[in-house]
Amino acid sequence: MIYAGILAGGIGSRMGNVPLPKQFLDLDGKPILIHTVEKFLLTSEFDKIFIATPQKWISHTKDTLRKHNITDDRIEVVQGGSDRNETIMNIIHAVEVENGVNEEDVIITHDAVRPFLTRRIIKENIETVIQHGAVDTVIPATDTIITSDDGESIQSIPVRSEMYQGQTPQSFNIQLLKHTYNELSNENKKILTDACKILVVAGKPVKIVMGELYNIKITTPYDLKVANSIIKGGMSRD
Ligand code: CTP
Repeated sequence: MIYAGILAGGIGSRMGNVPLPKQFLDLDGKPILIHTVEKFLLTSEFDKIFIATPQKWISHTKDTLRKHNITDDRIEVVQGGSDRNETIMNIIHAVEVENGVNEEDVIITHDAVRPFLTRRIIKENIETVIQHGAVDTVIPATDTIITSDDGESIQSIPVRSEMYQGQTPQSFNIQLLKHTYNELSNENKKILTDACKILVVAGKPVKIVMGELYNIKITTPYDLKVANSIIKGGMSRD
């Protein structure tokens, strides 16, 4: 089975003082989450599409889907977790409870607040995860990346051609991700904010798929303005 996991379990604190978690804010006439869900509905390969939101926003999410005429019975709204990886694990738990997990089952996880992903990115994630078990979506870094562990002086300047910026989707063989996550210490579970890093720290390979410059994550009010410009300027394709 091929599952989608749309991660909408955050509250969007960096968006500042807004009445709703950012995934529900308006982008060109409809909530950001709806833009994202519509991209997933265009892909017939998905057997089931889970949307995970904070518990108190579950009924709002269901109402929002109805209001935008999204009635596809592949969609199910579940409760998110205390952090992003826990949200993924809650979705996996829902899969296990409903269908059980087979060896070949995969999940394409995606930030609800990245509404500009494309069918090409989704398709390549599906093909690559089926073959290799774990996939990250990235774009080459255009700025030089500086590392600094104290925020005051430079520690290193890695070779730019080897640097990429992580986006989503991030896709996994479900059993591989779950087993690797369960092997982590509780301390590591708390600090590993990135799902691919769960595999990387365990020394397991993760393939990369090229994203798009416009596949941005809406994090701050500035990003919301950029997202509106991307739509108005016709900069996103597919
Ligand atoms: N996310 C999630 N479950 C969490 C935390 C985050 O599903 N417990 C989701 C967010 O809803 C978002 C995506 O992960 O779609 C990317 O995370 P981020 O941009 O950090 O979202 P927030 O945690 O909502 O934002 P902030 O850190 O500003 O509070």
